Amino acid sequence: MDLDIVMKESENIKDWIVDIRRELHRFPELMYEEHRTNALVREKLDELGIEYEFPIAETGVLAKIGDGDGPCVALRADMDALPIQEMADVDFKSEVDGKMHACGHDCHTAMLLGAAKILSQREINGTVKFLFQPAEEGGAGGEKMTQEGALENPAVERIFGLHVWPFIPTGQIGSRAGAFLAATSFMDIEVVGTGGHAAAPHTCVDPVLASSRIIDSLQSIVSRETDPLESAVVSITAVNGGSAHNVIPESVAIKGTLRSLTMDGLTNLQKRVDEICGLVGRANGCEVNVVYPGNDYPPTFNDPETWEFAKGVAESMIGAENVNELPPVMGGEDFAYYTQKTKGCFVVIGVGNPNKGCIYSVHHPQFKVDEDALPLGTALHVSFALESLLK
Ligand code: NI
Repeated sequence: MDLDIVMKESENIKDWIVDIRRELHRFPELMYEEHRTNALVREKLDELGIEYEFPIAETGVLAKIGDGDGPCVALRADMDALPIQEMADVDFKSEVDGKMHACGHDCHTAMLLGAAKILSQREINGTVKFLFQPAEEGGAGGEKMTQEGALENPAVERIFGLHVWPFIPTGQIGSRAGAFLAATSFMDIEVVGTGGHAAAPHTCVDPVLASSRIIDSLQSIVSRETDPLESAVVSITAVNGGSAHNVIPESVAIKGTLRSLTMDGLTNLQKRVDEICGLVGRANGCEVNVVYPGNDYPPTFNDPETWEFAKGVAESMIGAENVNELPPVMGGEDFAYYTQKTKGCFVVIGVGNPNKGCIYSVHHPQFKVDEDALPLGTALHVSFALESLLK
């Protein structure tokens, strides 16, 4: 198949893709609240005459084209935004206070609709599913989609996901075989002592000092206990306790996150956090409660063969010099849930462009995407699907 034609078709509908992206950008919605977003997705699918299932995973949409026979490939986009006040220099800024598409999920949704538009005009030798999923940002929408059968009937043999990536320039893509994104867990640690007058510390049990010792001890898990050739992160990100100069507080609340490239690694980190918090707390007379508040993400594992395939497709479209073998990233992604069930590959697509001020990281209030990259995302989706169905 001539992949140049797919690239041209995508460029031809660039304005259509960009318009959708900007509309979504102006009205960002947080996890499981993507009502306006899924309405727009359904409206576009209706216009294209594509059938879909709704709702799935509360606020998601599962579209499908093809003859139902033969192989089945899935393409996935996430739709949710983040609780961030937008500070980006764009004229289609978020119109919702405190919410922003700061991870590019507006682009993902628009690129996938672009792919649906192009594929709907083609003869499909098999089935292509389009997963418009909610709640990637901590809500495990991907897990819900799989639980509600998105990868069944017909069974998906391969799934692809794209993520805009400001760390590489527009026109390039990247990924890797094996673990690409980390297994992640959040943690809430409560250190409970006995409050009282700061002038009489001997009548209190000081949770502030105990907290400092716990935080210090937790940092030895990576530096002293983890194989230096393995990847692990223990980050403490919030410490809240007390409010006066002369009062020892009753308790201190600590927040943080754990990361590993394997599920065993993550489980081991949690086990050691539990042990250290319990023992160091006890040594300091405090009771310590550790809670992992749900939605630990497994690692996103790229099937090596599927990445080789995606790499080959991308190389023939944009040249080998623009296809990067990337190191793993310790960020998390709920695309992981799909790769636990079927062969998949998560690919990042460059949207970095210093000339346009597209230099900020995802999750940054000034995050800005070079929209010239969007047709390539659409073309990749289309080509991954068509080429998979040829095999
Ligand atoms: Ni994201």
